[in-house]
Amino acid sequence: MSGKQAKLSIDQQTIDLPVYSGTLGPDVIDVKDVLAKGYFTFDPGFMATASCESKITYIDGDQGILLHRGYPIEQLATQSTYEEVCYLLLNGELPSPVQMQDFRDRIKSHTMVHEQLQFFYRGFRRDAHPMAVMCGVVGALSAFYHDSLDIRNPEHRQVSAIRLIAKMPTIAAMCYKYSEGQPFMYPRNDLDYSANFLRMMFGNPCEDYEVNPVLARAMDRIFILHADHEQNASTSTVRMAGSTEANPFACIAAGIAALWGPSHGGANEAVLRMLGEIGSVDKVDDFVRRVKDKNDGTKLMGFGHRVYKNFDPRAKVMKQTCDEVLNALGIQDPQLELAMKLEDIALKDDYFVSRKLYPNVDFYSGIILKAIGIPMSLFTVIFALGRTPGWIAHWQEMISNPYKIARPRQLYTGSLQRNYVPANQR
Ligand code: ACO
Repeated sequence: MSGKQAKLSIDQQTIDLPVYSGTLGPDVIDVKDVLAKGYFTFDPGFMATASCESKITYIDGDQGILLHRGYPIEQLATQSTYEEVCYLLLNGELPSPVQMQDFRDRIKSHTMVHEQLQFFYRGFRRDAHPMAVMCGVVGALSAFYHDSLDIRNPEHRQVSAIRLIAKMPTIAAMCYKYSEGQPFMYPRNDLDYSANFLRMMFGNPCEDYEVNPVLARAMDRIFILHADHEQNASTSTVRMAGSTEANPFACIAAGIAALWGPSHGGANEAVLRMLGEIGSVDKVDDFVRRVKDKNDGTKLMGFGHRVYKNFDPRAKVMKQTCDEVLNALGIQDPQLELAMKLEDIALKDDYFVSRKLYPNVDFYSGIILKAIGIPMSLFTVIFALGRTPGWIAHWQEMISNPYKIARPRQLYTGSLQRNYVPANQR
């Protein structure tokens, strides 16, 4: 409780509503009691609705702050590793060296997928979008790992969490290999998480593949920067699916489906498509004119965010990583030049400034992924891989505490009750 109380006056009655304070962020008005008085609350898009209590991630969109379990994303991205961030998100604290080794060993013992799962891929067309394959294959894990599906059993929940984190790189790389018509690569457990992923992506059984440490570090950073983001659309989807007591693999598949859209995880792919469509630096002004024309319907992809109305702290680290990767590979990417020009114009233009539209994490991630050699259609898959620990941490948090099935209500504006008219009388 905050010591405050809200009063809602309506139709000559007053409803007292409790107000709660978190450790950070705005106070929250508990509106449950309005139901007993015959009202619903109305908040399309959940712009002002706290859908749950959570201890995992905090965002201050005005200040550009993102904390995981209290730790700033800039510190995690530059000083931690993805596996350590996974541990932190799932367990709430940074691990001791012994705990970290144990966690890593557990992940390594689950990196392979059931041998039968590779036949599942063959049901897809080779040109299927990798996100379509991911939704299907991750959902199918529940058909393979029956021994860890009891959501009431903490040990089952933990094994499922480890399995998901361990198998996502293998499944994602298999999506790529399948689309290329190349043999699947088994994981190599002597490599670190991100290096192993790059080898499964770009190696082949005929020759050794040497992982470039700069690229492995960049990949790890991309995974960290995507690891969690509070109650975003895909995480809320995972929670909602989980609230029905669906198994964790099904819930994560639901999250992957929600992530696919261009307003969410699909934006990194959309940024590169947009840069390709613009073509050259001299066309940027014309493109910005189109974006500002409401009748045109064009959006500046990689700009804007539901929560960040100052800057996206992930975008800063991403931009730095982008420079490092392009320098290390000696790449002069004309699309990066184009992106810089777009960013420059948008940061000064009143349309974007007045609407508080700033580059988000996806504005730079596509350029890095392209430089690493990852095809555009796989960008959202990389996001899904990175976001997996966040989804699982939220699912775990919900399941381990008292919760209700998520069941919003509505403002009904359809027809009044009327009688069915037989077809021959219409
Ligand atoms: N380009 C041009 N105009 C924009 C953009 C954009 N990228 N984003 C928002 N606007 C405009 C809107 O048209 C609106 O203008 P108006 O007030 O004149 O009507 C105003 O800014 C407010 O925008 P909303 O859509 O209300 O903002 P909302 O918070 O609902 O949307 C969203 C956020 C969906 C991310 C939006 O900014 C967008 O579509 N951006 C491009 C897609 C993108 O990069 N998505 C990735 C998000 S990050 C992530 O998921 C990891």
